Amino acid sequence: MDLKKLKIEAEKEIKKAKNLKNLNKVFKKYLGKKGEIAKVFNSLKKLSEAKRKKLGKEANLVKAEIEKMIRKKSKELREKARKVRLKKERIDVTRPGKKVEIGHLHPLTLVQREVLEIFQSMGFSVVLGPDIETEWYNFDALNIPKDHPARDFWDTFWLKPETQKSKVKTQKLLRTHTSPVQIRYMEKHNPPLRIIVPGRCFRHEATDISHDIQFYQLEGLVVDKNISAANFRAIIEEFLKRFFKIKIEIRLRPSFFPFTEPSFEIDVRRGKGKWVEMMGAGMVHPNVFKFSRLNPKNWQGFAFGIGLDRLAMLRYKINDIRLFYSGDLRFLKQF
Ligand code: DAH
Repeated sequence: MDLKKLKIEAEKEIKKAKNLKNLNKVFKKYLGKKGEIAKVFNSLKKLSEAKRKKLGKEANLVKAEIEKMIRKKSKELREKARKVRLKKERIDVTRPGKKVEIGHLHPLTLVQREVLEIFQSMGFSVVLGPDIETEWYNFDALNIPKDHPARDFWDTFWLKPETQKSKVKTQKLLRTHTSPVQIRYMEKHNPPLRIIVPGRCFRHEATDISHDIQFYQLEGLVVDKNISAANFRAIIEEFLKRFFKIKIEIRLRPSFFPFTEPSFEIDVRRGKGKWVEMMGAGMVHPNVFKFSRLNPKNWQGFAFGIGLDRLAMLRYKINDIRLFYSGDLRFLKQF
């Protein structure tokens, strides 16, 4: 082929190449081992020396020119590809991010943590006990024997009886209060004691705005020498003052619990508000000490049981205890 024409053809094809792959094809076609230029060099053999020299020189020139054009085009194409890539990879760091929804604590957890902190600052240790209890710890050791009418206070979820290795059938239950942990703790620790026990409790009863089949209690127990109801009053008044953060008044009303003697119910009045029932309490019954293998002649103590749900309801002005366990996000998102 005519070298001039060859150059023009090559130039056209180089211009047309849209990407590096196309360009590579053009390169092969003209400058490859079996390409057009190579063909020209091959044909030189047949020519006379003078013609060979002349044509050879021309061919070398055209080869160099095509090479140069390809190099230039290749640079252009690479630059173009780079720009496209950069545009695609561009990140606008000023764009607002996606909002990640994070969880938060349940109102009962918030109240429980606050209550524990107040008691811990008064020297109480936090102790836990099992949700599944034996009849002994939940009732008998708390001075509530079988067939005692007081058992009716606690409607109980009984679990399926288990047959022990000894073939004795025992029946466990879901604890109806946190009081069994008093016994468990006194069995293993010598006084003086000062503990609080937060925990979930269960009652087999109809639900309404102030009752649910599950709820949280906080048990308190203080055992020492010369403990009186006056000590209890001082501690509980201090706790309620710190929790409600306003002026409060409390009053003790006589009541009955099998595990305390005397027993009382504590009412609280915040500011000029109404009296509300707050908790049960009393002086630890001598039988409870005995069942815990402590000598009631040596030790005295007081115990109390506060409804944590009740505290949370007062704190956040919630009128239905069942909302805590409803899983309703419209409710939960408010805390
Ligand atoms: N266990 C009682 C209940 O669930 C509450 C209670 C009353 C706990 C008096 C006490 C106490 O420790 O002394 O109703």
